[in-house]
Amino acid sequence: MHEDVKEILFSADELNKRVRELGKQITTEYQGRELLVIGVLKGANVFLGDLIRYIELPLEIDFIAAASYGNSTESSGVVRLLKDLDYPIENRHVLLIEDLIDTGLTLNYLADNLKARQPASFKICTLLDKPERRKVAIEVDYKGFDIPDEFIVGYGIDYSQKYRNLPYVATLKPEVYA
Ligand code: PRP
Repeated sequence: MHEDVKEILFSADELNKRVRELGKQITTEYQGRELLVIGVLKGANVFLGDLIRYIELPLEIDFIAAASYGNSTESSGVVRLLKDLDYPIENRHVLLIEDLIDTGLTLNYLADNLKARQPASFKICTLLDKPERRKVAIEVDYKGFDIPDEFIVGYGIDYSQKYRNLPYVATLKPEVYA
């Protein structure tokens, strides 16, 4: 696994430091409110697992999964739900957790879908953002890092469903894609 890595963009320590900062910020800003943290499967799973341990507030978690039609690297914008939430979110303070925002098409669909369910509030937290790739405007409330338009893996993010368990975020050697 590690031998396929070209360059480490964020080490496990760097990720941990930033995730802890985000957790602190969220803890401060949501004082007195009960949070519902929603993870977008599967990529956000690792980030969410780490982040919630730095949020010192009563909270609940739920998960949603979506996929967009298109080829493996470019989403078409037509998104379908693979797994809906287990519970209603009406009147809840929802914080949606993503690993990565690329074109923004997935999140745009999910945000519209979830906001229509009338939560008390709705915010977005992403670990990584590729602003250069954006096709639709997304208001991001909490962000770990901006990254350039490069294909990355690790810390929940896959290539062909693999490398999600790398403890860092990295690029892969070109021969891995060949
Ligand atoms: C990734 C990522 C976002 C989406 C971002 O998920 O987790 O959900 O793509 O792309 P977009 O901004 O261009 O819509 P992916 O569909 O790869 O599924 P996964 O989380 O299960 O790996």
